[in-house]
Amino acid sequence: MDNFTFYSPTYFVFGKETENQTGQLVKKYGGHKVMLHYGGGSVKRSGLLDRVKASLDAEGIEYVELGGVEANPKSGLVYEGIEMARKENVDFMLPLGGGSVIDSAKAIALGVPYDGDFWDFYTGKAVEEALPVGTIVTLAASGSEASTDTVVTHEDGMYKRCADGDILRPKFSIMNPELTTTLPPYQTASGITDIIAHCMERYFSKTPDVELTDRMLEGVMLCMIKEGRRAMNDPANYEARANIMWAATIAHNNITGTGRAQDWGTHHMENELSSTYGCSHGAGLAILFPSWMKYAMKEDVMRFAQFAVRVWGCEMDFQNPEKTALEGIERYQAFIKEIGMPTTISEIGGKEEDVPKLADSMFHGAPDHGNFVKLTKEIAMEIYRMAL
Ligand code: NZQ
Ligand code: ZN
Repeated sequence: MDNFTFYSPTYFVFGKETENQTGQLVKKYGGHKVMLHYGGGSVKRSGLLDRVKASLDAEGIEYVELGGVEANPKSGLVYEGIEMARKENVDFMLPLGGGSVIDSAKAIALGVPYDGDFWDFYTGKAVEEALPVGTIVTLAASGSEASTDTVVTHEDGMYKRCADGDILRPKFSIMNPELTTTLPPYQTASGITDIIAHCMERYFSKTPDVELTDRMLEGVMLCMIKEGRRAMNDPANYEARANIMWAATIAHNNITGTGRAQDWGTHHMENELSSTYGCSHGAGLAILFPSWMKYAMKEDVMRFAQFAVRVWGCEMDFQNPEKTALEGIERYQAFIKEIGMPTTISEIGGKEEDVPKLADSMFHGAPDHGNFVKLTKEIAMEIYRMAL
């Protein structure tokens, strides 16, 4: 096991009607004036926004509102939010939504105390200072409610990039699984795919003797196969939604990634699909992961065979571990298909001639991708082509 540090200070408030505690939590964490940040309207339709406002009113906490965050959030609204937050003396960011809304709020939180361009943090500047953020989660997927990360697309070039730092871990996250029952099936399935992908980015590692985190990752993935199916077939099932929501957090607050090298090459390749074709992040991962795995298998076939046996219930063929490994990849892909995700780039409108552009964009100012497999532009193109 490698040396590591792990700091996860977020206070989680999980369960039914927990959004009614928002006002008290903002107060507890020192907020006086918050920015309510949200997307295209789901929080209005569900009544969540009104309930949160009532809770803030009850504690005498002031607020301003900035809605309109798009899926795969863009820089334009972040610049607007930074300006508004400064003008209005906002001292606490309160996103209500999925990963896109939370990440946009984190970007504004970074930009407010910084004199330069917030985008500097997405191109390598160290993250040290930010406004505090508290989240109200409406979609189980990204794990941004507990993660160090924010992923934003700059409209100048459509580069989708990540900034990260411990300061970006939310102060609190309110997680009411009931809120996720209104998700369209495509978003539920995208979330399931993303959560499993966060496990796989950590699972495919060359660090030896990481039995604890191997087993934790397998546990989260097994849970997602069972509860993912249950939520797809019965969207109002509270227990399924609750297990998935907590799995999203556990899969990406990095407790399962401690002490081991992680890959993340597929996530970086995916950023190009969601920014180019506007697909969900989960859909992009569903398309790319099987191809990445087929490419990566040769690096350590026994790890892929272990994944096949322990997660997908395949029988180990000791004479031919490649066969077992491939069977695991096929079962994974069949599951992804079963829940309604696309499995080829063509299905989201991509073509062979786009491949060099995808790779160029991915490597623009960002030379390092992947760890289990170190990606070069050529390897990335090969994997994109396998996924066509
Ligand atoms: O905009 P509204 O109307 O709210 O609709 C949203 C949006 O269209 C809708 N939605 C959310 N909650 C809903 C709902 N619809 C009905 N009922 C609800 N309860 O769902 C749509 C997609 O939302 P989005 O926030 O984009 O989804 P997700 O949570 O999957 O987030 C994806 C983003 O997170 C990034 C991805 O790259 C992508 O940009 N990620 C962030 C990470 C992080 N910060 O740690 C890690 C991840 O790997 C990921 O990269
Ligand atoms: Zn992800």
